[in-house]
Amino acid sequence: MIIVIDGPAGSGKSSTAKALSNQLNIHFLDSGALYRAVTYYWILKGKPDQEKFFDLLPALDLNVDLTNNSFTVWLNGNDVSDDIRSSAVANHVSDIASLPRVRKKVNQFMRELVEQNTFIADGRDLGTAVFPDADLKFYMDASIEERADRRYQEMEASGHAVTRERVIQNLKERDHKDKTRDADPLKKADDAIVIDTTGKTFEEQVAEMAAIINNKLHINS
Ligand code: DC
Repeated sequence: MIIVIDGPAGSGKSSTAKALSNQLNIHFLDSGALYRAVTYYWILKGKPDQEKFFDLLPALDLNVDLTNNSFTVWLNGNDVSDDIRSSAVANHVSDIASLPRVRKKVNQFMRELVEQNTFIADGRDLGTAVFPDADLKFYMDASIEERADRRYQEMEASGHAVTRERVIQNLKERDHKDKTRDADPLKKADDAIVIDTTGKTFEEQVAEMAAIINNKLHINS
């Protein structure tokens, strides 16, 4: 079984998916972390051009550790969960994630994972391209101001020197890239439930989505 949450950067998908995974005791699948791991591999290989990188892709071995509701990403035998959060990775991940061959590899990995377990997954194209038959689809969104405020507070708390204006600019650029790329752009699936979190507390949005999921599980049982 698979429940997906898509939406733009800063809409709260991944913290909400994590909270729901804990509350409902199902695994969390962080698809962005997989794209980050591929990007980290590209950096480790010396930032090769596209053709050279495609030749190196078969030697990229992805793995995840799901114990205790964690989602730890392993790249060729090494835990890279911290490395994939670096700004070097953040600066290139949109470009690497836009390569169709990279998407094919990551999608195949996710589909194999989901055959073995129940997951709640967050991403951009999960309800449209990767799991069009998902059991339940959410599309989370919030105003650009609110998304920027959340990102700004997170970054300030972790000691990053940044202005609110810069955060808004960065989010706008990422929205544009995610929505206009050729390969599997960010798009609401026709059958996705929209959760607009503008003005809602985190607890409210988690409770709203947990109720929808429980209702669905109840209907199916
Ligand atoms: O959710 P995140 O910020 O960790 O995602 C990192 C990047 O990966 C982001 O630029 C968009 C991309 N991504 C994607 O293209 N498709 C997904 N299903 C998930 C993430």
